[in-house]
This record gives sequence, structure tokens and C-alpha cells, in this order.
Amino acid sequence: MGALPWLLLLLLVRTGERGRLQSWDGKDVVAVLQESVSLPLEVPADEEVENIVWSSHVRLATVVPGKRGQPATIEVTNPRYKGRASFPDPGYSLHISNLSWEDSGPYQAQVNLRTSRISVTQRYRLRVYRRLSEPRVTVNFEISREDGCNISLTCSVEKAGLDVTYSWLSGEDGVDAVHEGSALSTSWRPGDNAPSYTCRASNPISSIVSSPIPAGSFCSDPGYPSEKSTYLCVLAKGLLLLVLLVVLAAGLWLTGAPTWGRTSRMKKLKRNRLRLRKKEKPHPSLA
Ligand SMILES: *[C@@H]1O[C@H](CO)[C@@H](O)[C@H](O)[C@H]1NC(C)=O
Ligand SMILES: *[C@@H]1O[C@H](CO)[C@@H](O)[C@H](O)[C@H]1NC(C)=O
Repeated sequence: MGALPWLLLLLLVRTGERGRLQSWDGKDVVAVLQESVSLPLEVPADEEVENIVWSSHVRLATVVPGKRGQPATIEVTNPRYKGRASFPDPGYSLHISNLSWEDSGPYQAQVNLRTSRISVTQRYRLRVYRRLSEPRVTVNFEISREDGCNISLTCSVEKAGLDVTYSWLSGEDGVDAVHEGSALSTSWRPGDNAPSYTCRASNPISSIVSSPIPAGSFCSDPGYPSEKSTYLCVLAKGLLLLVLLVVLAAGLWLTGAPTWGRTSRMKKLKRNRLRLRKKEKPHPSLA
């Protein structure tokens, strides 16, 4: 009973699959922004070509091959391609220079044959990419005395565009991919050796790595020249100094004799401060 509908469904799925497979028989072409690209055209050798119509969304150009060694007649109909499109003899492939983002998209060449009076269509899909610039890595880390250190690294490329993939490489040789994706979280414990990581950014036309990031150094060497840690360090030292001064002042205020006049107390305060400064001098590490 139930077998026939299943069979029908299977047939439908099958034909659907085939339709989808057949719908894209073109060439995928990738190219670099502001550089040039050639969409190769294969013309049947034993056939006389009447004309070739190149289009992308709208008609781009018509090429009529010349007779008996004469140059072809070329008419570029889309003004966006004027001066940038050429159709080198003898294949009449489409050559586009100074590519822009807008040049991405579908292209097709319709080759009209004279003798057999049929036309052959070739399809292309052009994608334009920018060459990636060196990735930038930002480092965030949390240090605690007991747990060691948690490090998160984020990799980015300016004006990256589409189809960019990121991966992290580790080790001196930088060949082992340790993580796919732009963000890497890792941790460091006292006693571990400090690993260094490199970010690799790739798109279909380029691949570029960052300089190695000595991630462990952020944790193991507190003096590592990192903007964030220096800033925090200065802030902490400043705060400590302030607290120390407040405590000292309060202490002096409390121990000072209440019968003294304002001026004598001030004098004593000043004297004490001077003494303190002198005391502090041999121990600059106190601050
Ligand atoms: C390439 O195209 C850009 C605009 O897309 C234009 O500003 C530039 O002058 C062109 N360069 C050349 C060499 O034609
Ligand atoms: C690091 O992360 C783990 C869990 O994600 C947490 O238990 C630990 O306290 C963190 N350590 C630091 C130093 O923040």
C-alpha cells in the first residue's frame, strides 16, 4: 500500500537533485580587486562563429569575428566596461582590467554558430576579492595568583570583505593549526612554558599571517610591555601612594596634641613629611 507514494517521492527527490546539479554548469572565477581577469571562452574549432554576445545582468558587448584575417568588430554596450573590457584574438575570451566590487556576479557568453545555426552558452560566476592586509591581534588576559592566567586572543583584518577564514597556529614553526576561527581562548599556569600564537587570515586569493604573539609572556612576565598592563600598574601604584598618604595624614592628625595651634600642627606635619621623604629615599621600591 505505502510503497507507491514512497517510490514517487523518491523519484521526485531524484529529479529534483538532478535539476539542481544541472543548473550550475559554469565556471567559478576569482579575481583580485583593481587587477584583471580573463573569462576563458571555448569556441568549437570546426565551426564558423557568427558572433559572440557577452553579458552580465545586461548585455556587455558583441563580438563579430573578422573575415579572412580581418580584426573582429567589437561593440561594448555597457558603459561600465568601456576601456576595461577587451576580447583578445582568436578566442574572444573576455578580459576585464581594473576590477571593482561591482564586477562580481554572473557572466555569460552566447556563441552563435553560423553553419549549424545553433548557439552555445558558457556561464561564469566572478567573485572579486581584496588582498588581505596583515591581521591585527588583540590580547585580553586575566591573571590570578591561584589560577594562573586566562588569555583570549582576537584576530581581525581591516576591510576584510567576504569569505575570510581565520585560524590560529602554534609553535616555533607555526605549522600546527590549533584552532579555527577568529577568537582563541587559552590559559597559562605557572610552570607551563609560554606558547606563542600566530593568526592566519585567508580568503580565496590570499593568505597572510600575523607576527607571532608570545601569549604566555603576558602572564609570566609582569613587565611585558603591554599597554594595558602598564596602565594598570601605574594606576595601582598611584592608588597605593594615595592610600598611604591618607593613612599617614590621619595618623598624624590623631597623634597630634589637640592643644597645639593650627600653625604649629602644620609645621609638625611638614616636618614629619620631610622626615618621611628622607626615610623613603633609600627604599624607592616602597612606592
Ligand atoms: C580603476 O578604477 C578606479 C575606479 O573604480 C579609478 O578610480 C582608477 O583610476 C582606475 N585605474 C586605472 C588604472 O584605470
Ligand atoms: C579562567 O577561567 C576558568 C574557567 O573558565 C576560571 O575557573 C578561572 O578562575 C579563570 N582564571 C582567571 C585567572 O581568571
